Amino acid sequence: MAEQLGAAVIGLGMMGERHAQVWAELPTTRLVSVYDLVPERAAQVAEQLGCAAAGGLEEALGAEGVELVSVCTDDQSHRDACVAAAQAGRHVLVEKPLATTLEDCDAIIAACAEADVKLMTGHICRFDPRYVRCRDAVGAGEIGEAVQVFARRNNIVPSGRRIGPRTSVAMFLGVHDIDLVQWITGERITRVYAEATSKVLADIPADDTIMTVFRLEGGAVGVLETCWVIPEGSPNSLDARLEVVGTAGRVAARVGGEEFEQHSTDRAKRMDIVYWIEMHGRGHGGLRRQLEHFAECIVADREPAISAEDARSAVAVALAIHRSLESGEPCAVGT
Ligand SMILES: NC(=O)c1ccc[n+]([C@@H]2O[C@H](COP(=O)([O-])OP(=O)(O)OC[C@H]3O[C@@H](n4cnc5c(N)ncnc54)[C@H](O)[C@@H]3O)[C@@H](O)[C@H]2O)c1
Repeated sequence: MAEQLGAAVIGLGMMGERHAQVWAELPTTRLVSVYDLVPERAAQVAEQLGCAAAGGLEEALGAEGVELVSVCTDDQSHRDACVAAAQAGRHVLVEKPLATTLEDCDAIIAACAEADVKLMTGHICRFDPRYVRCRDAVGAGEIGEAVQVFARRNNIVPSGRRIGPRTSVAMFLGVHDIDLVQWITGERITRVYAEATSKVLADIPADDTIMTVFRLEGGAVGVLETCWVIPEGSPNSLDARLEVVGTAGRVAARVGGEEFEQHSTDRAKRMDIVYWIEMHGRGHGGLRRQLEHFAECIVADREPAISAEDARSAVAVALAIHRSLESGEPCAVGT
């Protein structure tokens, strides 16, 4: 293995550019090639970060020295890039959700297993110390058995407008909390009942919000609040919370940029500085920790912190939410 792991990034939107920057900056990795369906975008990122702009997926994956690949394309188009990367013998870090169908999840998992390469889904919240502390406390039995769970992820409306035409709010935002709930409690969600409404994004059309009641396998009940139409003028562009009430205690995390405020004459903003912040010309925060972790797992031949089964299970719950919305009935989570 070379001293620095060579990385390629497929899909160079908001997340792909950040992945590329981190791979270019980490001491243990170097950015070799980038590819996007829009050639000008690949050329721009390649010039900015000093790597090759590939003209196609195969070229990006086959570039000399590439050992790992970040797949940062839209939710519904993860499969082709992940399978091709695995077949080329590259380790795969794919943005959440793993895919948007269980068939696609299985194809990705099978291709990575067959090629004996590592696969991790970018559930970034697992690298947020607030949620990690919840997990550690619940895992250590400090709150007893889970009784009630609440998770909220509300985003400002530009997020719904940008992503709404391509995927659902359950798949794009809800999947973060589905994974967190299952990881923190150590229990799978077995049944969901969801209600949605569409007013702000009715023209797209997309759901504004989905409220889901769920049951965990240990008997606890919970609510998932997932929305992407809070007004753009809200000080917090993200309002996320998680609470687990147990038989002997409670844990709660609040995520929304309270760490930093900026006010102008007509607007107050609370910006997240935990997942991504540029500091002294380098990207820091949860995304960097996540990518560092994946590179360390490759070098030390360790299993990544987020298993393929966990990532697939979160997709299964999001799909059950979709089925419940269609049928108007509670739905068992598929396997
Ligand atoms: N971890 C997080 O907090 C987080 C936040 C936002 C988005 N995401 C996830 O990251 C992924 C990308 O989201 P985004 O917000 O960066 O989207 P985006 O729209 O900003 O970028 C997607 C990019 O992928 C390119 N693309 C699409 N299909 C492609 C293909 N087949 N081959 C090559 N390039 C292709 C598009 O041209 C575009 O440049 C999604 O799966 C999303 O759910 C994760």
